[in-house]
Amino acid sequence: MTLQNGELSRDQLLDSQAHIWNHIFGFIHSMSLKCAIQLEIPDIISRHGSPMLLSQLVEALGIDQERTPFVYRLMRLLVHTGFFVKQSVSTPGGGDEEGEGYSLAPTSRLLLKDEPLSIRPFLLLVLDPMLVDPWQHLSKWFQNDDATPFHTTHGRMFWDLAGQEPKLNQQFNEAMASDARLVTTIILKHCGDAFEGIESIIDVGGGTGTVAQAIAKAFPNIRCISFDLPHVVNGLAGSKNLSYVGGDMFEAIPKADAILLKWILHDWDDEECIKILKRCREAITSKDNRGKLIIIDMVMKVNKGDNEFLETQLLFDMLMMSLVTGRERSEKDWAKLFLNAGYTDYKITPILRFRSLIEVYP
Ligand SMILES: C[S@@+](CC[C@H](N)C(=O)[O-])C[C@H]1O[C@@H](n2cnc3c(N)ncnc32)[C@H](O)[C@@H]1O
Repeated sequence: MTLQNGELSRDQLLDSQAHIWNHIFGFIHSMSLKCAIQLEIPDIISRHGSPMLLSQLVEALGIDQERTPFVYRLMRLLVHTGFFVKQSVSTPGGGDEEGEGYSLAPTSRLLLKDEPLSIRPFLLLVLDPMLVDPWQHLSKWFQNDDATPFHTTHGRMFWDLAGQEPKLNQQFNEAMASDARLVTTIILKHCGDAFEGIESIIDVGGGTGTVAQAIAKAFPNIRCISFDLPHVVNGLAGSKNLSYVGGDMFEAIPKADAILLKWILHDWDDEECIKILKRCREAITSKDNRGKLIIIDMVMKVNKGDNEFLETQLLFDMLMMSLVTGRERSEKDWAKLFLNAGYTDYKITPILRFRSLIEVYP
């Protein structure tokens, strides 16, 4: 059947409408999940220890019972999107409630407050109004000459504002630390040999030191330095083989056998990356194969054929565009950066699905 416009069949027209609607409503997924996290629904259900009836959930939430139908609708969406599951419950006394309760889906364990590998702080950062507002200014930014949509929105660059706003600084550092815990768990278990033989390592842009702490613990013979801007490391106490140094990676980096750059280069444009990479090369003291850069970042399309991974990488790339001057890079882009900064060889290990471990040799 051809509709009046003569172009699209009925199916094409309705499929197009559904496709567009799902994209218009994409933010409802994020905001509904954020709401559940702010209300601590995953924590409440986890503490309950067995499938939780809607009435029990509403009571535990401490909200007006009249809100029950709205909690039901929020939960219905989050069951549909795979964050909770509905399971039958034998109701004491055979009450007239539907006899179905909510449990956590495996994914939601990563949203619990007390889960060591929780990504809850990252969710709360990325969905904070300060980071969401720049999306409202994206088209305006395309038409002006500000460095980033974040700058168009807040009048300052992301790193400058993080240095001036303690709440943003703390929220950002917590989000980074949560990711660092998850990544380090995998890297040390599956790629520990990347650190073998190294006597000293600097984690450049190491935030509050989560990665350096884990390396220092796993390898007591490696001297570790977590290096970051002064407002990030001020007041942090080191340990036997871990210390904190404040500074600017564009100026100078302390010397070591190896340098770690986790989630650093994707924050910066090519010119800035080459400067950082050159500073790193100057800082690497070892001339044998202990001397290297270890980068943890995305290599676009490295897992060929997996559309879900690619979509996550494309979304991350847009996030970088909105907040900072960086971007996500393909292997070709990375190789060009390494060559321009004077490095001779590199090896990519795509161990983290969306992200890879890249060893780069001076
Ligand atoms: C995306 S975060 C990554 C943090 C950490 N590497 C991780 O992955 O958990 C980037 C880090 O670079 C730091 N940074 C930004 N500009 C810097 C500079 N000029 N010198 C040193 N560190 C800087 C930030 O403070 C922040 O901690």
